[in-house]
Amino acid sequence: MNRIYVEDIGAHEGAEVVLSGWLYNKRSSGKLHFLQVRDGTGTVQCVVFKNDVDPGVFELAGGLTQESSIIVRGTVRADQRSPLGFEVGVDRLELVGESTDFPITPKEHGVAYLLDRRHLWLRSAKQHAVLRIRSEIAHACREYLDKRGFVLFDSPILTPAACEGTTTLFETPYFDETAYLTQSGQLYLEAGALALGKAYCFGPTFRAEKSKTRRHLMEFWMVEPEVAYMDLEGDMDLAEDFVEFIVQRVIERRRRELDTLERDVAKLQGIRKPFPRIRYDDALAILRDKGIEVEWGSDFGAEEETLISEAYDRPVLVHRYPAECKAFYMKNDPTDARLALCVDMLAPEGYGEIIGGGQREDDLQTLRDKIAAHELPEEPFAWYLDLRRYGSVPHAGFGMGIERVVAWVCGLRHVRETIPFPRMLERLTP
Ligand code: 4AD
Ligand code: MG
Repeated sequence: MNRIYVEDIGAHEGAEVVLSGWLYNKRSSGKLHFLQVRDGTGTVQCVVFKNDVDPGVFELAGGLTQESSIIVRGTVRADQRSPLGFEVGVDRLELVGESTDFPITPKEHGVAYLLDRRHLWLRSAKQHAVLRIRSEIAHACREYLDKRGFVLFDSPILTPAACEGTTTLFETPYFDETAYLTQSGQLYLEAGALALGKAYCFGPTFRAEKSKTRRHLMEFWMVEPEVAYMDLEGDMDLAEDFVEFIVQRVIERRRRELDTLERDVAKLQGIRKPFPRIRYDDALAILRDKGIEVEWGSDFGAEEETLISEAYDRPVLVHRYPAECKAFYMKNDPTDARLALCVDMLAPEGYGEIIGGGQREDDLQTLRDKIAAHELPEEPFAWYLDLRRYGSVPHAGFGMGIERVVAWVCGLRHVRETIPFPRMLERLTP
């Protein structure tokens, strides 16, 4: 028998097919049962008409419960009213696994209730759309970088030192030593870029951030490209081109999912190069105009990022922050040593920082001084300093947080729905 997936149903009009899936929803009227069957690729209406099937099949259909697993055999026919354009006229039905009292019904549930049942919540149409878009975004990141000669370079997850400050480290015993879960693959990736020219890593990263915001997770995925002989301008060009590619790719391939999420696609269509580029000082001026006084030298918080990005209809690149509010590895601006050659990309519509990066300090002594100024021990960075001892070159890169990008593209207020199993301040389960 011809087993097909719902997403391909259009190619099978008039044919007898088999669908293997689960009952999403059901409605009955007299001689008809309307089964909404999902198979992971989509949902299709399967109509069981009493006069067309064995009495046993009609009875089975009538008693089916939400999320019971079923195999349906029937004929694909066009149906104008369905969003898919097709439905299935059922002739056989098989119950594979019964589902009793599925805890997530079509009515509204609270988020805590749903998060406790995340393993089942994943089956609902909206979650399903988000995860498909996430997968598309990850694929687009890899395709973009692979096609431009970047080498995939898997940086370690267990590390002996901090990359992004010591306050957000997850510590774990490592035999007789202490290890930390990586906050960013960057430092290792710099070794990769100096070995391979263009490298990227894409993996889970960890931050023990004691904050409960809609933008923070303890475990999130970051894609990080790093390029030898690239400066801050080149880094901004790359970041802009990368984000444009990803957003346009999702529109092209995941239009149906965006519609399921009721995302305003016109806003995403406008995500085209060039993105505005402003200096930190310009951002301060924007905030001042809105009545917000930020002290020179402080990083922006979520509120401020939102206010800055409100001025634009596409992501804005904010560059040259004060070095004092950024990580130790940032290179100082040669024209003004108070500034770092760094960039943050702020997404529109209040989604905040999606990219952080910049040019790296490539001078040995300056870097040693910075490590000391940040009160970091030098010993765990001995290998990193070697990169400045043996053929140091200007180099730059950035990290893009996948969950933040998924939240923005999908139009979700909170990052907790952008990853299959979010790790949050008060949530490690399921
Ligand atoms: O700005 P961040 O801290 O930059 C770095 O880690 C650099 N080492 C990256 C590099 O240059 N290779 O983090 C980069 C991005 C942020 O812009 C944000 O999108 C995301 O990672 N991010 C988080 N996402 C979810 N939850 C958190 N707690 C996040 N912290 C950072
Ligand atoms: Mg940052």
